[in-house]
Amino acid sequence: MNQDIATILVTTEQINDAVARLGQELTAEYRDKNPLVIGVLRGVAPFMIDLVRAMDCYLEIDFIDVSSYGDATESSGAVTVLKDIDSDVTGRHVLLVEDIVDTGRTLEKLLELFAGRGAASVKVCSLLDKPERRIVNVTADYIGLSVPNEFVVGYGLDFRQQYRNLPYIGVLKPEIYQN
Ligand code: PRP
Repeated sequence: MNQDIATILVTTEQINDAVARLGQELTAEYRDKNPLVIGVLRGVAPFMIDLVRAMDCYLEIDFIDVSSYGDATESSGAVTVLKDIDSDVTGRHVLLVEDIVDTGRTLEKLLELFAGRGAASVKVCSLLDKPERRIVNVTADYIGLSVPNEFVVGYGLDFRQQYRNLPYIGVLKPEIYQN
């Protein structure tokens, strides 16, 4: 698996530092709010697990699964809810957690969805931001790291469902996704 990576963009140590910083910021924000922390499957899985353990406050977790890319490398523009959360968000402080904001289409759809459900507040935490790729004008409230417009995999991010288990974030060799 590692031989398919051209360069390491974000090391495990840099990921850990970003998670620790975000955990401190979110602990301060949500200390008395018992937030509902909602992970956007599937790419968020490693980050979600690490992030909630870095938050020192009462909270609940839930997950939503949306699909925009399928197995393509670029967003199709259509965002579909594949699995909804089980919790009632009425009056709750919602924190949406993403692995990456790319075109912004997924985030726009999620913000629309939760705005109509009577949450007390909706904020977004994304491990990565890829601002060069933005099509829709949305931004996460909490961002771990900004990355350039390259094909990144690892720590949740996939290519054809592979590489999510890499403990770092790397740039995939072009010959891998061009084949
Ligand atoms: C990825 C990522 C975000 C979304 C960001 O999900 O996890 O949810 O794309 O892209 P956008 O800003 O262009 O909408 P994907 O649909 O690939 O599913 P996955 O998390 O299961 O890999």
